[in-house]
Parts: sequence; C-alpha cells; structure tokens
Amino acid sequence: MAEITYAQPRSSRVTSISSTMATRADLDSGPTVVVPPASYMASTIPETLAKARTHVDAIVDDETSSSDDESSASVRGVVPNYAFAFDIDGVLLKGGHVIPEAKEAMKYLNGENPDGLKVPYIFVTNGGGKTEQERCLDLSKQLDVAVSPDQFICGHTPMREMAEMYQTVLVVGGDGEKCRVVAEGYGFRDVVTPGDIMKWQAAVTPFRVLTEDEYKNSRDRDFSKINIDAIFVFADSRHWGDDTQIIMDLLLSKNGRMGTLSDTFDEGPPIYFSHNDVVWATNFELNRLGMGALRVFIEALYKDRTGKTLQTATSFGKPQIGTFHYATRVLERWRKDVFGEEGPPQTVYFVGDTPESDIRGTNEFHEHVDEEWYSILVKTGVYQPGTVPRHQPRVIVENVLEAVKHGMERSRKQALQELDELGNGIEASIQK
Ligand code: G3P
Ligand code: MG
Repeated sequence: MAEITYAQPRSSRVTSISSTMATRADLDSGPTVVVPPASYMASTIPETLAKARTHVDAIVDDETSSSDDESSASVRGVVPNYAFAFDIDGVLLKGGHVIPEAKEAMKYLNGENPDGLKVPYIFVTNGGGKTEQERCLDLSKQLDVAVSPDQFICGHTPMREMAEMYQTVLVVGGDGEKCRVVAEGYGFRDVVTPGDIMKWQAAVTPFRVLTEDEYKNSRDRDFSKINIDAIFVFADSRHWGDDTQIIMDLLLSKNGRMGTLSDTFDEGPPIYFSHNDVVWATNFELNRLGMGALRVFIEALYKDRTGKTLQTATSFGKPQIGTFHYATRVLERWRKDVFGEEGPPQTVYFVGDTPESDIRGTNEFHEHVDEEWYSILVKTGVYQPGTVPRHQPRVIVENVLEAVKHGMERSRKQALQELDELGNGIEASIQK
C-alpha cells in the first residue's frame, strides 16, 4: 500500500471548532469563489474572458486527455467552488469493509479526473467509539488516502463541547475502555463506565459477570456516594441489557445516585446520544439496529415505568442542524488551510445512504443557509433500491463513485453556463 502522508496545512491552526460558535453570520461571511477563478483573472475583461474560456475549453475538449498533458496541468491549483461531504457507513464502508468504488472515488477527487481538479472534502459519520485520530488512521488505510482528523466529524465529536458542563458522567457504548479514553481526551473530568458500576456491586446486573479484563480495567468507586450528573451514549452499546439497566437506574434516581429512586421521576440526569440512527448498514443483507433503537427502547421503558414521557433525552449527529453547522465550519477551515481558499464553497455535495439522517439533514440545512447543500443518495447502504425514500434526495445514484462524478459534472456544466451568460452580457454591453 502507498505510504500515507497528510496534506500540510498552509498555516498553523486551531483544530477544535465550536459547534456553538457556528452562527448564520459565520456561514454568510467571506467571499465565495466564482467563475472564472482568481488565478485566471487578467487585467481587462476581454483578457479575463479569453483566459477563462481557454480554461473551460480545456476542460470541455480534453476529457479523454491524460492528467499530465498541458491542458490538464493548466487547471491544477484551481480550487473548485464546490466541495463534498461523505457519510461513511453504507457509502464508503460496509461492515468494516471498503465498498469497492470508494477508493476510486477518493482518487477521482484527488486529481485523477479528466480535469486534474483536486476537490476539498470532509467526512461526517454518525459512527464513533474511538478517538478521531484512531478512526482517521483506520480510514486512511482502508481508503488508501490520507484522512486527517481536521476533515473528520463523528457522532460524538460535538460532545467535546459539553466537557465543562458536568462533573461526573456515565459514558456508555463502544469496545472496552475506548469511549472512556475518548471522553477523557475531550476533557470530561470524571468519567464512569457501566463496568465501574458493575464492579462496585455485581448485583446491579444479575445476569452478567464482568470478564477478567473488564474487571481489571473497571475502576473502584463507591457509587453510594457519587452523583452522576449526565449520561452520554458515545457509541453503540455492546451489552444492551446491562447498559439499559444502569441507564434506567440513573434516569429514575434522585440526582444520579445509584440505589435511590425518585418519587417524581424527574430528578435523574439528562441523557445524550451521539446520534439517532434506528438502523444502519453492515455487510448483513438487512439493516441492523443502531443507537436510535436504544433510544426508542429507553424511552419506551421510561414511559412504561413512570407513565411519563422522558423529557431529558437529546441526540447529536445527523440530521441535527447543529451537526451540519459544525460540518460547515470544519469544511471552511479545511478549505482555507489546505487549499488556501477563504469562505464556504458555493455548493456542498453530501453523499449519504440513510434518508432519515443524511438526506433529511442535508435538505433541511440547505433551507437554512445561503450556500447550496445538495443531497445525493447511494444504493449501497440503508436505502433499499426500489423503495421510496422517506426524505427525497436531489438525486439517487448507484454508488459513491457515481455520486462524485455526478456532482463534479453538474458543477462543471453550471460553470460553463455562467461563463456563457457572463460573456453574452459583456458582448451585449460592448455593442451598445
Ligand atoms: O453506528 C454508525 C451508524 O449508525 C451510521 O454511521 O457513517 O452511516 O453515519 P454513518
Ligand atoms: Mg451511513
């Protein structure tokens, strides 16, 4: 496999981006990139047009040329006025395996296309369970392309913003101690796992005994003296029964103290889920239950036990609008630091497989911002070809490579049309 090197940012940069800081004003600020690109600008309008036309003609006439001939070389360094955002499970990976077209799609975006264009892109997954750095390293190996944490958002990434809000938190989900490591890395001060509680009193979960490793890794705490201030479901639960038992104990408790029972059932800690996907795509032929299913399960249990609706559950991830604001900030920064372009791209092509999260989120975000967010649904994941998606994408394509080609082709045609209109307008004004 080729050696993986990260693109070097052009300037030193802050990697922590606050979702709470992403305002409408932020999104609207900065110049947008228009055709012709700045690098093709000349001192006079006719010259500008001539250069721009040469540039576009090179793209149009030379589709079959190799990437190292003269015309293709001329478009290198041009930063497109669009970008891509990719969902991961069901688009690039399935059950941990790479979807065959994914590597090709990455190459295509990285310049192996007829125009030699390099297109900025980011990854926005609801998945998680390990640090962003670890996940990016995995993804880099799987896709044969460098993936930086600076172009990556997973379901729990925005939870880092909440580290200061709570003293002691229960972190649920993921393999072994990984989510505790993630939460501590985010700055959470006191992170408890279900294993710690089971180690404190085995009777909490009557049907499961911790393995030797789990027992060793779990911490000795006296939960009769500790209040748990919030519950964070970072990744999919590996032990629904035990995790549900402990979550319910806390939701029904007085102030998050294990072994207590509230009279009013509204004194327990809030619960946060890193996303709300009821199902997701793996390499099994039917979709599998995801974290959203756990939320449904917990809410139903709470209702059954108390007769009330759980009011304190919150989900992050797609389709939440905050996740898309966050993604905009990440994309904008990536574009600036790696491609040297200020401001948001005019169009973001979001490629996803789940109508309820990817397509819904993209479509709703599109309504909120001035830039275009264009939803592309692939057939390789949750969406079942032949069915009507609950949220309509702008287009449905076979796979991620088709999605990339569709977006790039669409933007190219738009650029050509804009140039023609610009040219006609100028010619008309000269003739007056
Ligand atoms: O558990 C992850 C899954 O629900 C969705 O991941 O990449 O499709 O957003 P993704
Ligand atoms: Mg997906």
